[in-house]
Amino acid sequence: MENLRARVTFEREFKIAEIDNRLYGSFVEHLGRCVYGGIYEPSHPTADAEGFRNDVASLVEELGVSTVRYPGGNFVSNYKWEDGVGPRSLRPERLDIAWRTTEDNSFGLNEFISWCRKVKAEPMLAINLGTRGISEALDLLEYCNHPSASRLSDLRISHGYTSPHKIKLWCLGNELDGPWQTGHKTAYEYGRLSAETGRAMKAMYDDIELVSCGSSNMRMPTFASWEAESLMENYDITDYVSLHQYYSNEQEDTSDFLAITLETERFIKTVISICDYVKAVKRGNKDIQLSFDEWNVWFHSKAVDNKKMSMEPWDKAPSLLEDIYTFEDALVSGCALITFLKNCDRLKIACLAQLVNVIAPIMTETGGGLCRQTIFYPFMHVSMFGRGTALLPVISTNKYDSKNFSDVPYLETVGVLNEQERIFTIFAVNRSLDKETVFTLNLKGFSESSMLEHITLECDDLKATNTISNPDNVTPRNRVNSCENLSEGVYDIKIPKASWNVIRFKV
Ligand code: AHR
Repeated sequence: MENLRARVTFEREFKIAEIDNRLYGSFVEHLGRCVYGGIYEPSHPTADAEGFRNDVASLVEELGVSTVRYPGGNFVSNYKWEDGVGPRSLRPERLDIAWRTTEDNSFGLNEFISWCRKVKAEPMLAINLGTRGISEALDLLEYCNHPSASRLSDLRISHGYTSPHKIKLWCLGNELDGPWQTGHKTAYEYGRLSAETGRAMKAMYDDIELVSCGSSNMRMPTFASWEAESLMENYDITDYVSLHQYYSNEQEDTSDFLAITLETERFIKTVISICDYVKAVKRGNKDIQLSFDEWNVWFHSKAVDNKKMSMEPWDKAPSLLEDIYTFEDALVSGCALITFLKNCDRLKIACLAQLVNVIAPIMTETGGGLCRQTIFYPFMHVSMFGRGTALLPVISTNKYDSKNFSDVPYLETVGVLNEQERIFTIFAVNRSLDKETVFTLNLKGFSESSMLEHITLECDDLKATNTISNPDNVTPRNRVNSCENLSEGVYDIKIPKASWNVIRFKV
């Protein structure tokens, strides 16, 4: 069988943009075992004095998560943040109608902030614009960010948090375009409410940044008109618009599944056009940037979850959305991360949804061990080596057609230059399920280059998984002899079939 060939050139000058580290964010929702039995489990042998699992915290740090969105998700649209602060004995139990569970509120806002400090991540708070509005958003902002000498800042201090939390990044609700959302709204209703809420919040603290809800996914019937109409109302106060997308291989068509991020690319480009259209109509002088604040593969657990939510409601922290990820899911994650980097001139924030147990890179056993799922690795590599300036490849590669996509490049790639460390890293996925790709890499634009390492995630079984009992079934390895230096700055590199690749050069 003949190999595939590709040619790729990177130049220092082909800059996309400086990468915003918030591209390596994640998401913690009060859903299933993400909080309880995930990041927080006071009775766990590794728990610290605040009840945070140290084993989980160290994997979160290994993953290099920069930003964490909280507390939802669908959960936030009927959440009262006041229920989760103050003495635990006074915190109420509440029914969460989004996931049909009982929330005991033993973990809330202040615990979340402490946990973020522990894992060195920046908090990104979502406010409830489903059942609540301006007044409650202002109360929350005062509680979080005001230093002292006001009713709610003093309340925070009385709860033991003397310094303000200084939360910069706020989501104006969650997926309010979705009929499933508590407090679902039309684009105009949402635009008005978010505009007035955001204006009031910025009147209190003008250094905060606000994310307006975009569509829940690009297949929503209201996609595009939702963004245009809501941004027409809230353009003045909006810094970012959100995008959400979940990938599925329910059809068991892996070539098509691996091509799904072409849709992500189209989604991003369309949302940018809408933002620019609104800016033009408004005669505005600011660009609205993008926040891809929910993305992941999500389909493995859906059938079981639907049954569980209808047959066994109101449990506390039940196992929900516990997708066990396959090797091919990791390849799709890699393609998504490359797509984000290729668009980092406008895409500034992205949150892998979610972080622990719930459609997550980290799986735990309540009271027991934990493991890194397959999707852990592309995220870890990109957050570890993808800091600096993203460089656009000039690429020629073979293409294929799948059920829903045409002209799908076999080779998906992007580069990141870390000027300080003088390291250039190439991230690449070979979408071919049966052929190695040999690509000729031209780095002549860099005065010197020498290859440091070639890390891959590869596996003959596309459906292979990692589990707590078999945690290292799919793990990265270092390839040797995969690179031939043809002449000064020109290399032939072998990319295995169906693989995720990290190729690092000293430059
Ligand atoms: O991440 C799971 C859910 O997906 C979130 O709660 C919601 O925002 C989205 O529909």
